[in-house]
Amino acid sequence: VAEFSLRPRYLAEYIGQGQVKDNLKVFIEAAKLRQEALDHVLLYGPPGLGKTTLSNIIANELGVNIRTTSGPAIERPGDLAAILTNLQEGDVLFIDEIHRLHRTVEEVLYPAMEDFALDIIIGKGPSARSVRLDLPAFTLIGATTRAGLLSAPLRDRFGVVARLEFYTVDELSYIVSRAADILQVQIVGEAAHEIGMRSRGTPRIANRLLKRVRDFAQVRGDGVITLDLAQSALSLIQVDGLGLDQIDHKMLTAIIQSFRGGPVGLDTIAATIGEESQTIEDVYEPYLLQIGFLQRTPRGRAVTPLAYRHLGLPVPGDTVGSN
Ligand code: ADE
Repeated sequence: VAEFSLRPRYLAEYIGQGQVKDNLKVFIEAAKLRQEALDHVLLYGPPGLGKTTLSNIIANELGVNIRTTSGPAIERPGDLAAILTNLQEGDVLFIDEIHRLHRTVEEVLYPAMEDFALDIIIGKGPSARSVRLDLPAFTLIGATTRAGLLSAPLRDRFGVVARLEFYTVDELSYIVSRAADILQVQIVGEAAHEIGMRSRGTPRIANRLLKRVRDFAQVRGDGVITLDLAQSALSLIQVDGLGLDQIDHKMLTAIIQSFRGGPVGLDTIAATIGEESQTIEDVYEPYLLQIGFLQRTPRGRAVTPLAYRHLGLPVPGDTVGSN
C-alpha cells in the first residue's frame, strides 16, 4: 500500500483540528456557491500536523487541480511566473515553507494574490515598460511552521489564516486505528492508544511509529499488534513513554548537565548537541513547550521540574529524603 494513501482525501475523513475544519467547510462551500476561487489560505503550525494533507483536501473539496511547490524551490521570479501562468481558473497553488521565498519572488506574488495579475518588465533602460498580464483566479495555500517568519505584507494578503494544533491522544489513537486498517494490520485498541500517547501530538509521527511497530509484529510476533508488542517495539526504537526520542533526551540532558537547567540561549543549546537551531525551534521545542518540559524566558530556554522528574533526575532545590 502506497504511503500517500494513508492521507485522508476529504474533510469528512480528516480527524482533529475541529475548529479549522469546520470553518474551512464553510469557506469552501461559500466559494463553490459563488463559483469563485477560495480566498488565499495560510496554514501554520509545527511539522507533521497535516498542512500538506489539508491543502490537498481543500483542492479535492473544491474540485480543482493542485500545483505543489515550496519556497526554496522557486529560485527566480520567472519560475513563479511560469507556475502562475499555467494555472487554470480556480486552481490551488500550494507553497510549502512559504517563509523561505526569495524577496524578489515574493514581490511577484503580491499583485498575483491581490489582483490575479503579473507585472512584467519589457525592454531595458529608458524604453523599459511594465505590462500587466491577467492570471486566472486561483487560491494560494501557504504553509509555514511559524507565521511570525512571514513578512507582514505577505501575511496580510491571506484571507484565511489557520493555526494547526497538536492532536489529542484520542485523535491520534483514532488516526493509528484508521491507518492500521488501510495497512491491513490488526491492532488492539490499547496498542493504538499506546502509539497515540507516544506520538508527540503529531499524526506523521503516529503513522511512522505504527509502521515500525508493524515491522516488529510481522518479524518477531504473529502479525497482530498487541499492547505488549507495541510497548516493547517502541522501547527498542528508543521512543519513551511520552514519545520523546534520543534528540529530546539529549537536549534536555544537555541543558540540565551543562547549564544547570537553564535559562540558556537556543544557539548555545544547538551548538552543544550538534543540531541546527532552526530544527530545534521548529521540530523539537514546540512539543516540549506544549507538555511543560521547557519554558521560554527572555534569557533563553529553561528545563522545568516536570522534565527532571520524567528523566529520573533530582529536581534542584527539592529537599529529598529529609524528615
Ligand atoms: N493521517 C494523518 N493525519 C490524519 C488526520 N488528521 N486525519 C486522518 N488521518 C490522518
